[in-house]
Amino acid sequence: MAALITTPRLLSIGGGALAELPALLARLGLVRPLIVTDPFIAGSGILDRATALLDGAGIKAAVFQDTVSDPTTDVIAAGVERLREAPYDSLVAIGGGSPIDTAKGMSVLHANGGQMRDYKVPNDIPRIGLPIIAIPTTAGTGSEVTRFTVITDTETDEKMLVAGLACCPTASIVDFELTLTMPLRLTADTGIDSLTHAIEAYVSKRASPYTDGLAKNAMGLIARHIRTACADPQNRPAREAMMLGATTAGMAFSNASVALVHGMSRPIGAFFHVPHGLSNAMLLPEITAFSAPAALERYADCARAMGVAQDGEGSQAAVARLLDALRALNDDLKVPSPKAYGIKKDRYDELLPTMASQAIASGSPANNPRVPSSEEIIELYQRVYG
Ligand SMILES: [Fe+2]
Repeated sequence: MAALITTPRLLSIGGGALAELPALLARLGLVRPLIVTDPFIAGSGILDRATALLDGAGIKAAVFQDTVSDPTTDVIAAGVERLREAPYDSLVAIGGGSPIDTAKGMSVLHANGGQMRDYKVPNDIPRIGLPIIAIPTTAGTGSEVTRFTVITDTETDEKMLVAGLACCPTASIVDFELTLTMPLRLTADTGIDSLTHAIEAYVSKRASPYTDGLAKNAMGLIARHIRTACADPQNRPAREAMMLGATTAGMAFSNASVALVHGMSRPIGAFFHVPHGLSNAMLLPEITAFSAPAALERYADCARAMGVAQDGEGSQAAVARLLDALRALNDDLKVPSPKAYGIKKDRYDELLPTMASQAIASGSPANNPRVPSSEEIIELYQRVYG
């Protein structure tokens, strides 16, 4: 069966690429962008650099800087109001996954009206809205190249997955220099998120030869450089590798989908406010152990791509190395269990059926090589609790 691939039209990748922003807008014929960012980026000097570059090109960009981590329907509504104030022709999203996901939500609602929940998977998004230029400042979500956005419904706390061409940025600027000041915890969490994207894209039932190459490349980059990027934040080769790995993993999972780890991770994030990469990390080793028997060769390939399998080692042994490597990575990067994170057992247990049904409803578990029942998902949540 043919694979349908979605990617941005333009990517500018490399140290210092931020300077290409005016030229990139000019290539696309865009003259009136609204910058979407958060208060941290606004105060970090990165927003000032972007607006100075645009000023230099004669573009006076307006700024919406009220985005929050784990973007909510309320923030999207405020952003859409802002878009109605002037005839903007584009959105320039600067920040981690949240400002980029917010810009996507704004573009979708501005063009289509209605509520964000009207467009949650598996619903279609009829119209493609304002073009988005995405400029990530973390190496993790891959949102700069994906056709997904994740928006939390303020009324229900559900983290909704919204997908389609309308959510894919038109262009992206991938400049690892913007990540040199990321603190350790953020580097670790976003790095494991991108490793999870690569592994899940590779083992997904929707993987294709196109996405396989991207996923294996990303796994190799991330596995070899994540510890250095955490321990030595100014290490440019490590930061560059992590950024490239995150974007490449984004291209892979945007077109192959994620699977059970992400499906189970979103409800943990939504109900207990665990950062996305961290809730993935809490789940990744156990979900890999659960899933591996159904796709031994694929998981063995992951071990080889990450450089943790020995030469000539069989698939069973390679998968055992993969599980050891994922557990060791969590230990080294001090990933807590849900219990150690402070999640109360009674509340966790009480929410298990809801979390399991939201996980299944997201569609991601259906892409897993081993598709769990609702009861099995609950068992897995119990196993990782700690
Ligand atoms: Fe993710």
